[in-house]
Amino acid sequence: MTTKYDNVIVFGPTGAVGSDVALEASKRGAKVWLAMRDPSKSISTITQEQESNGSFERIKADLSDPESVKQAVQKSGAKAAFFYMVHGLPDMKPSIQAINDGGAEYVVFLSSYTIHPDLKPREVKPDQVIAHFHAKVEIAVEEVGIASTMLRPGFFSTNVLDQNLDRSKEPWRATISESDAKWDCICQVDIGRVGGAVLVDRPSNDHKEIVYLTGPQHLSRAEMLAIVEAKSGHKIDINRLAGVEYRDYLVSVGLPKFLADFFVKDEASYAVTSYSQAHIKQATDNIKKYSGYEPTTFEEFVAKKFS
Ligand SMILES: NC(=O)c1ccc[n+]([C@@H]2O[C@H](COP(=O)([O-])OP(=O)(O)OC[C@H]3O[C@@H](n4cnc5c(N)ncnc54)[C@H](OP(=O)(O)O)[C@@H]3O)[C@@H](O)[C@H]2O)c1
Repeated sequence: MTTKYDNVIVFGPTGAVGSDVALEASKRGAKVWLAMRDPSKSISTITQEQESNGSFERIKADLSDPESVKQAVQKSGAKAAFFYMVHGLPDMKPSIQAINDGGAEYVVFLSSYTIHPDLKPREVKPDQVIAHFHAKVEIAVEEVGIASTMLRPGFFSTNVLDQNLDRSKEPWRATISESDAKWDCICQVDIGRVGGAVLVDRPSNDHKEIVYLTGPQHLSRAEMLAIVEAKSGHKIDINRLAGVEYRDYLVSVGLPKFLADFFVKDEASYAVTSYSQAHIKQATDNIKKYSGYEPTTFEEFVAKKFS
């Protein structure tokens, strides 16, 4: 029999994924501790009424401050914890150690499908930047020795809105690269539901479980934008840029230069076609398998977003 946790802690419950992790964990009957850098912030998926019935409790903690992490886990008494990678934090091992030292025995980490199924985390090279950052955290979990489920989701549906679309004036304007590579377009709500499910209902008693997750609709960025145009009713002018020009555009919308360089040079190597069809099918099926919900299509995501 696998383990069920009735008391869990979620680091990052204000996040798009973390907010649904917290909600789903609660739906499965667990008391959920909401570990936040700023406990006064609102959480989009949880109402004040839900919070006031004792199913949730806020607690202050910062994943870049291991002592605050240890105290939060200790105070909660939770044995299972969900956490994010913190961008810019060179080493997450002290915080993962703190989760362990605070009394948790199991973590769920939001990793990335860029850690290819044929690669062990230690085989990921530094120039595979996104995979490398997440692999470093997976290795730290391994070194701490705490049991884990690694969620490895694909390309978020929100990326095209955040990285490529300017909605500040009419017509809307999108800037994309010349690539027509296709992406799986997974929705954060689906990742969050799986995260909440495996946080409460541990999928196996294996020391490390890996769950790949991909969305059900494979689209190029131009195809995504055509759907956004149709569902939102806003005309979108598309500007295609190549090489350094596209890199400079990505930097201008806030991406660090090393990431923008990576997107221009290597992003297409993580397109959905660079994985076997069987792997991608299983990764999509995993959404229903672990959460019980049907996967959300990009069209459904866009329709809801712009309704
Ligand atoms: N984009 C993709 O295609 C993709 C694909 C695979 C995996 N991923 C992973 O998914 C992540 C994004 O997930 P998301 O959309 O749910 O992110 P999000 O909405 O930006 O949420 C991030 C959460 O992390 C919390 N956080 C940040 N720094 C923290 C700290 N020092 N201590 C405690 N909490 C902290 C934030 O809390 P505050 O409210 O305090 O800011 C927030 O709740 C990426 O960073 C990456 O690791 C992304």
